[in-house]
Amino acid sequence: MLKILTAPHPLLRQKAQPVEHITDDIRLILDKMIDLMYQTDGIGLAANQVGILKRMVVIDIGADCPYKDLYPLKMINPSLEAISDNTIIYEEGCLSVPGEREKVKRSEMVSVSYTTPEGELKKIEVSGLLAVCIQHEIDHLNGVLFVDRLSKLKQELTWKHYEKQHKKTKGAPL
Ligand code: NI
Repeated sequence: MLKILTAPHPLLRQKAQPVEHITDDIRLILDKMIDLMYQTDGIGLAANQVGILKRMVVIDIGADCPYKDLYPLKMINPSLEAISDNTIIYEEGCLSVPGEREKVKRSEMVSVSYTTPEGELKKIEVSGLLAVCIQHEIDHLNGVLFVDRLSKLKQELTWKHYEKQHKKTKGAPL
């Protein structure tokens, strides 16, 4: 059973390693990540978040977009090939930082290459929410959380608020 790790779990701060061989185990993990993403109403999940330090992410933003036929996206070794100078501001949240949402500035368009579970190399160009989501998930693989993308002041406020919320629920009955 996979479980989502939440901050400040140290595995969320580690760099995931490339997948060298796509085995049945890898495909099984990706399928379990997708199940967990749907169960938790997330639109993306990186392997670090379930304690697996492999470069894998799953995404399904649900909305209509040119790549809907690829959904749910299962990306092995995703890599940003190009990012636009144009930026987009989107209010992000994260299953590993529950309860927090903040506006983050990212590139509006990205070109990303990745390998499918079937071993096919793909390269897609995406914009908007899907581009935001891909950047958020690749950040996870590098041990970066969306909070790190905020101003120093916002980071402090967000973590303070998070800790307060966290403490409140710590002693609560199960
Ligand atoms: Ni996240």
